[in-house]
Amino acid sequence: MRVLNFGSLNLDYVYAVDHFVQPGETIASRSRTVKCGGKGLNQSIALARAGAAVLHAGCIGSGGEPLREMLIRNGVDVAALKTTGEMQGHTVIQVNPEGENSIILFGGSNLCVTEKQVDDALNIMSEGDWLVLQNEINLLPYIVHQANKKGMRIALNPSPFNDQIKKVDLNQLSWLLVNEVEAEQMTGSANPDTAWEKLHTDYPALSVLITLGSKGSVAWMQEGDQTTVIRQEAISVRAVDTTAAGDTFTGYFIAGLMNHMPLEKCMERAAKAAAISVTRPGAADSIPQADEID
Ligand code: RIB
Repeated sequence: MRVLNFGSLNLDYVYAVDHFVQPGETIASRSRTVKCGGKGLNQSIALARAGAAVLHAGCIGSGGEPLREMLIRNGVDVAALKTTGEMQGHTVIQVNPEGENSIILFGGSNLCVTEKQVDDALNIMSEGDWLVLQNEINLLPYIVHQANKKGMRIALNPSPFNDQIKKVDLNQLSWLLVNEVEAEQMTGSANPDTAWEKLHTDYPALSVLITLGSKGSVAWMQEGDQTTVIRQEAISVRAVDTTAAGDTFTGYFIAGLMNHMPLEKCMERAAKAAAISVTRPGAADSIPQADEID
């Protein structure tokens, strides 16, 4: 079984700051680094480091070759990557001394996905394979629709949340993976249990994972009429940089499901992987190898 991750690739321009810049303020940064990132790329690296067989589909633009090389170095199949003349998707990230971040995203090449590229990438895959998606590329509703027709299992992390998500038919997903802010944006409820109830009423076959930051995470896995609920505590660590913690969780969680691990084990490993990632700087660079979790 394989997983196709159709997702973004960003060059992250990371600035260490004493505090996030305020309106009208100019501040000097302590350091500036350029790192491989993008929710798509990060999740592919996490899946691969967790042991999954991963293909990454997406668009490399000008200046983006280090992102392709990062995927290759980590054993990710890049046959479905397309090259475009657009500027590479990138971000400007402020990281404060508490390890929190503040991100400006420029879509660039990530918004150059075409229906032909989607069809070609899905042709490589088989019924029962997984598809993982985030929301930093265009054509998400089309990708979901075509993959569902093919009988793939689809996991969507609708981050960052915007109007494109409202056009995706959530009935066609196996898993929805959200943080508590996205859960509220999608359901109007700040309470995770109420958010799940609303999602379950509208999409009865959908399994849902909500990550809750320092409060851990909770998953409702749907198998027929039966719902299995698992709550996982967060693991307390000294945070250096929280960028890509959610992506690390997602990659390890899906890899666990692909490996038929019990839900509890999937969540525990994902929580450990995310905890390790926040103790290190950068996005993809911070994602641990599976033996570090073990
Ligand atoms: O989730 C973290 C990622 O979000 C960063 O790597 C950045 O590229 C943004 O897409």
